[in-house]
Amino acid sequence: MVLSSKLYNRSISWCSRTTVIGVLPRTAKLWATQNKHGEDRLRLFRAVAAATDAATVLYPGSFVDVAASHVFPDVTYADMDRRAAQFFSDTEGVEAIVAADQVDDRPRRIRFLAGDYREPLAVPDGSVDLLVSLYAGFVSEHCTGYLRPGGWLLVNPSHGDAAMASIDPRYQLVGVVKSIGGDYRVDVNGLDGYLIPKKRQDINPDLLHELNRGVAYTKSPYAYLFQLVGNS
Ligand SMILES: C[S@@+](CC[C@H](N)C(=O)[O-])C[C@H]1O[C@@H](n2cnc3c(N)ncnc32)[C@H](O)[C@@H]1O
Repeated sequence: MVLSSKLYNRSISWCSRTTVIGVLPRTAKLWATQNKHGEDRLRLFRAVAAATDAATVLYPGSFVDVAASHVFPDVTYADMDRRAAQFFSDTEGVEAIVAADQVDDRPRRIRFLAGDYREPLAVPDGSVDLLVSLYAGFVSEHCTGYLRPGGWLLVNPSHGDAAMASIDPRYQLVGVVKSIGGDYRVDVNGLDGYLIPKKRQDINPDLLHELNRGVAYTKSPYAYLFQLVGNS
């Protein structure tokens, strides 16, 4: 993806960074790679925001996917990759990236926690409206405690976390996220027809850890939206 001209024009070299507010080249490069599908994640998060009233978001295994902050006012990102820590350390650059495609005027709070989400994160229990789990392992297994009652889990199936949430009694499926012609829509109808394995098998945490990938289902939406209905 080519950075929007607004942002690209603000990109500056490391040497001039001390005098000009802008995006470090390293930050711009990582974002260009992350955003190579042309604001795809912005469209995804927009659809999820329209289906929820989420404002406070926790995104473990985010890498540099700051598109969540284009849409949500308060996002805590967490990742153990050194490049993500470097990216977020360019505070002004990240703010400029977010501002370039921000969907509303609400002030943004952007926080990054470096580390392993399987260890305790500096996030109060029960404080988060939306937990994001995209291609980053079993986020729901380790981070559901941060979700408030009635909060949402956005999870895609590729690493098995959607299957993990589907067998977690604390969660109820409340929507499926469909990708239609490059856009996203949350469908709340016919949910009984989803999460039906193609193969008859006992889906349990041990199996999912062993597989370390998703279960094949008869229908394959892009992602699932669960709601926390039991105690976290
Ligand atoms: C494939 S990338 C996906 C990034 C982003 N979620 C996206 O969809 O573009 C997976 C990211 O999850 C991070 N990750 C995986 N397991 C993690 C863990 N236990 N704690 C923190 N980060 C983790 C990796 O460091 C990597 O940056």
